[in-house]
Formats: sequence, C-alpha cells, structure tokens
Amino acid sequence: MAEQLTPETPEESEEQPIKQRKNGLYPGVSDELAENMKSGWADTELHGLEPIAQASHTADRRAALSRRFPGERLVIPAGNLRTRSNDTEYSFRASTEYAYLTGDQTQDGVLVLEPKGEGHEATVYLLPRSDRENGEFWLDGQGELWVGRRHSLAEAEQLLGIPAKDVRELPAALREATGPVRNVRGHDAGIEAALTDKVTAERDEELRVYLSEARLVKDAFEVAELRKACDATARGFEDVVKVLDKAEATSERYIEGTFFLRARVEGNDIGYGSICAAGPHATTLHWVRNDGPVRPGELLLLDAGVETNELYTADVTRTLPINGTFSPLQRKIYDAVYEAQEAGIAAVKPGAPYRAFHDAAQRVLAEKLVEWGLCGDLDVEKVLELGLQRRWTLHGTGHMLGMDVHDCAAARTETYVAGDLEPGMCLTVEPGLYFQADDLTVPEEYRGIGVRIEDDILVTEDGHENLSASLPRRSDEVEAWMARVKQG
Ligand code: GLY
Ligand code: MN
Ligand code: MN
Repeated sequence: MAEQLTPETPEESEEQPIKQRKNGLYPGVSDELAENMKSGWADTELHGLEPIAQASHTADRRAALSRRFPGERLVIPAGNLRTRSNDTEYSFRASTEYAYLTGDQTQDGVLVLEPKGEGHEATVYLLPRSDRENGEFWLDGQGELWVGRRHSLAEAEQLLGIPAKDVRELPAALREATGPVRNVRGHDAGIEAALTDKVTAERDEELRVYLSEARLVKDAFEVAELRKACDATARGFEDVVKVLDKAEATSERYIEGTFFLRARVEGNDIGYGSICAAGPHATTLHWVRNDGPVRPGELLLLDAGVETNELYTADVTRTLPINGTFSPLQRKIYDAVYEAQEAGIAAVKPGAPYRAFHDAAQRVLAEKLVEWGLCGDLDVEKVLELGLQRRWTLHGTGHMLGMDVHDCAAARTETYVAGDLEPGMCLTVEPGLYFQADDLTVPEEYRGIGVRIEDDILVTEDGHENLSASLPRRSDEVEAWMARVKQG
C-alpha cells in the first residue's frame, strides 16, 4: 500500500495528522507542483442519472417516519470511518438506519428531515467532490485520488431522489437551529457534539426504536434483497462442500475464506462473522476464531450469510458430516434438531404469536432429551417448566432478519418477542443441540457434538416461505447433496 507524502518533521506530524490536513500543502511539495496539480483535469460530471432501484421505497419509508414525528427535526447519520492505525481505517459500513432511509452508503453522510408544512423536507448531507484548488483531492488521505471518485452533490440528488448539500455545513447549521430535534446516536460523534444541548437520550431512543420497528415488516424491495442474499449464501455453502478436502488439509480458515470469496463476489460482504466450527467447536455458539482442524468423521457447523450490495443479509446454518456421511449417533442428534426445526417452521404464520416457533422447537428437543435418558426421571412437561433442556439447547430459536443479522433489535418487547407475526416479517428458525466436550452429564460419545440447522423464513399472507430452502436439510438429502456437489 502506498504511503502518503511524509511531512518533513515528525513533530509536525504529531500536531497535525496527515489525513486531517485538509488545507495547505505539505512541506516538500513545491509551489510549481501544487500549481500543476490544480488544472488539466477533464470535467467528469454525470448527467441524467436514473434513480436507484429502491428510491420509491426509501421515499415511502421517510414519509412514514415524517408522520410519526411531526414538527421535529430528525437527524440520521451514516457514520464515519474508524481508524485502525495511523492512516489505515476499518472498512466502512453505513448505519442501517441511514441506508434504510436513503439507499445511500456513503461515509459521513447525514439525512436530515426538516419540518415543513404538514410534513418534512428531506436533505442528504454529503461530502462533495474533492476540491482541486486547495490540493485536497491528492493531499488528503480521503481525497478522491486516494480513495476514488465520489458522486457530486447533483449526481447524488439524481440517484437518491433527495436534495443534497455539503455535509461540512451541517454541524454549524445544526448548532444554530431551533425547535425540537432527535438524532440517531452512536454513529457520528461530530453531529452528536453539534446537537449536545438540543437532544435528550430518551427522545433519541424513541427515534431509534421507531426505526427498528419500522423494519419489522419488509417491503417488496427488501424481500427481493433477502431472497438474493439467501441464493448467494446457498452458492457459498456449495463452494464450501466442494473444497472440504482442501479444508481437511488446512483448517477452518479455508472454509471461512471460501465463503468470504462468494460474499465479496456476489455481495457487499458477509453479514456477520462466519462461524466455521468443526468437531467440538460446533458446541461454541459463536465460534468465529475458525482456526481449528477439519477432520473426517466429525461434523462441520457452518453458520454464514452473504450481505447483498444493498446491505441485506442471510443467516443460514448447515451441519455437515465432513466425510459426507453421518455416523449413527450424529444422525440421531441431527434428525432430532431437524424435527425440532420442522415444528418451528410449521409454527410460522401470520397471526401466530412470535414465541410460538420457539416453543414448538423447544418441545421437540425436550422430548428427545427425555427419550434419550438425559433428564433423569423428569417428564417432558417438567423439563420444559424448569427449562432444563436449555443446558443443551442454549439459545433462542430465532430472530428477525434484515439489514442487521439480529434485525430490529431495538424494537419494544410488545411489538417483537411478545407480538404476533405479520406477512412481510422475515425470521430465522434455528434450533440446535450442543453437547459440550466437558459435559459429564451426557454419555461420553455425545460429548463434542453440536448441531444447528438454520433457515430464513418469510411470513406470507397464508403461511410462510423458506427463503433458504434450496439448501437441503434432511440428513439423507444433505448426504446426497454433498455427494452430488463433490462430484461436480
Ligand atoms: N449467526 C448468528 C445467529 O445465528 O444468530
Ligand atoms: Mn446464524
Ligand atoms: Mn441466526
């Protein structure tokens, strides 16, 4: 990676980090070079751009937000780059709230809804094209010559269907503004500083909660994105099956890298850290170290999801026999989880309490655990009453899915976990059984076996649709699929 021009003295660099040197030239840049760099560049302004595919949806989302908070100024930042070290940054991912309302993913962007008449006027504040006069475009670490061309404000306006202004003017404008304001916190410290004596934590939280609840029911664009994410994820799982023998020679890392390739080629990224858990690692719920061996005869629990370019993620788990065939005990445990998942999925329908799918899956798992003699003399009802099955089922059976893998997390209990399912909601159904390697309460041969099966289920008008159904789930179908895929 190329370094930027270094200032002459280290002292100066400490006083004024390179990437903040927005104005003024570095020592070592001659006046002639500075002058030379100002001109001789073609005008590349783009005209007549088509609006992005979701522009009408983002307009509807902003209109709903406007209705909820009449007469109040609403500030929704995309967030800023975070420094990893010196002039190197972590990769940027726009805040879910900003991307949901604008369809834009530009760092430092801020959406402002200004009260106007009965509703609001939206403005998106963005960094304009780099200035060539002051050398910013080639001397600033975030100048276009270093990080790539940005859209001009006029171009952004055409693409997003929202008037665009220079974000550098926003903090001062917000400081001067009067009237009630709400801000989505946690993304942009500069904006928060400008609003510090105008907002309250409680009122800001109401905005965050609203934006979480607004995403409980997905619109047509979002459903299409989730479908895309699931399809790409299925291809990523196939990629992994194809290279399982190579992973055996290396480690879980090979699996992680293989899936990541698919995520980057077909989408924006992975939607969360891939869990590539072979053998006993499968009993660690969020095993993302992925540095262990992949051994034939053991199971691979792969929990991974592609995030689309528009930031919608799948969240899928398959537990696969590494050598292609389940052992009798692995199959017994796998089939129990499969049965629990079937019961959970069957409970997903409009009007059903959200909790019903969890309860249905837990009941099946408790029945199996009792049948296998792991709960002493207790019957299923008692086990469920005391929650004793949870020693081996460990987690809730699912969650909402969307732009965040654990989507709508700020929604209130009454609208989410204690609410009812509605068409357009999308959730995971992901029961599991996990027998820790050091669990002395189960027979030795169970220890170190972990199984989870996870699918992404859309609530439809008359039931549900499994968006990840193209990946087989039944044990014999998994084996047949693996054999097919390995053969090519
Ligand atoms: N991948 C995390 C989860 O399944 O919730
Ligand atoms: Mn998952
Ligand atoms: Mn999940």
